[in-house]
Amino acid sequence: MNSSPFIYGKTVSNSAFINRKDEINRLKTNITNGVNTTIISPRRWGKSSLVEKTMNSIAKSSDKTGFVILDLFTVSTSEQFLEKFARETIKASSNKWEDWINNAGSVFRKLIPKIHVGPDPVNDFSLSFDWDELKKSEEEIINLAETLAVKKNIKMIVCLDEFQNIAGFKNFEAFEKKLRAIWQRQKNTTYCLYGSKRHMMSNIFNNPSKPFYKFGDIMFLDKIEEKQWVKYITSRFNKTGKEIPADLASKVARLMQNHPWYVQQLSQYIWNRTKELSDQEILEEALTELINTNTPFYQSQAESLSITQINLLTAVINSETKLTSTEVMKYYKLGTPRNVTKNRDTLINNDIIQRKNKGFEFLDPAFEIWFRQNY
Ligand SMILES: Nc1ncnc2c1ncn2[C@@H]1O[C@H](COP(=O)(O)OP(=O)(O)OP(=O)(O)O)[C@@H](O)[C@H]1O
Ligand SMILES: [Mg+2]
Repeated sequence: MNSSPFIYGKTVSNSAFINRKDEINRLKTNITNGVNTTIISPRRWGKSSLVEKTMNSIAKSSDKTGFVILDLFTVSTSEQFLEKFARETIKASSNKWEDWINNAGSVFRKLIPKIHVGPDPVNDFSLSFDWDELKKSEEEIINLAETLAVKKNIKMIVCLDEFQNIAGFKNFEAFEKKLRAIWQRQKNTTYCLYGSKRHMMSNIFNNPSKPFYKFGDIMFLDKIEEKQWVKYITSRFNKTGKEIPADLASKVARLMQNHPWYVQQLSQYIWNRTKELSDQEILEEALTELINTNTPFYQSQAESLSITQINLLTAVINSETKLTSTEVMKYYKLGTPRNVTKNRDTLINNDIIQRKNKGFEFLDPAFEIWFRQNY
């Protein structure tokens, strides 16, 4: 563990995973009792890690469960979704690849999949379908987890990451209805659907006129508390023969506003620069490094914003709360009241800012620092 005691950029589920005991319990209880669960939080707060950790824990205590874990991040059509879903569901139903081929051949009534198996079947197994045929019997694939669960007398758990991506499919509304209608009848399959676009996720799950309304329990994941971070950061330093004073660790958490990814990233940069004992100067250098590393991303984010949106962010930075007051609009050049309302909603819907008490705050603490430095 000497080269990098802190982890960011990939899911954490073992030693680098902090706490979340209540969330794990709630998710585990839900899933093992057949309660479908939705998890919503902004990017990089730890959804995927939480699901991975919880599923690992369920897997330990039950060998008659198949896990389908699928990231829809790169999936943009319902055909792609169905193909990936079919492949992963078949793979989840057994740990023998010979079974996959048998199942793929026997489980469908109408569809005939083309199966491809490479020299390394575990990593090189795929199914494809004839598009026209697929259109006519999507239901068979949508119901596949349940069909396999019944056939093999097991439970299936289906975890779909970045689920809001389905809202971008061409025939989304009909497809969404179909998913809901079929999934809610299933007795042996439980779904965990999570995503980071809060506005879109809420629109799918929290809107009484939409099919996924009341599909199951909705969890809004929080950040991790400062106290937990301090304990974690100091112990990671200690375990690797270095030291960080508790008040400095506390500063790290506060600077990054307890944002899981960034606290880990900043801690790592400090650790890299620390010979024995870290101090304020190292913290500042590490922060500069973090901002520099992420600058291209912030730049392109800022370039995608209009001038009035940038001005509105400046008003938010200065803790303005009454954005449509004449003075504020004039001082920050925010445009008309309609502009302000529209820009505010766009920035909220894109998870750049969120409401906080009476005002607003940035969601990305390091972007906020970069923004202060540049505007
Ligand atoms: N429980 C945790 N303890 C410590 N660090 C965590 C925890 N959860 C997440 N992190 C940190 O946050 C980073 C992002 O976690 P993860 O990928 O699980 O988040 P996510 O919400 O799924 O993100 P995305 O929206 O990008 O998919 C991890 O790489 C890790 O650095
Ligand atoms: Mg994720």
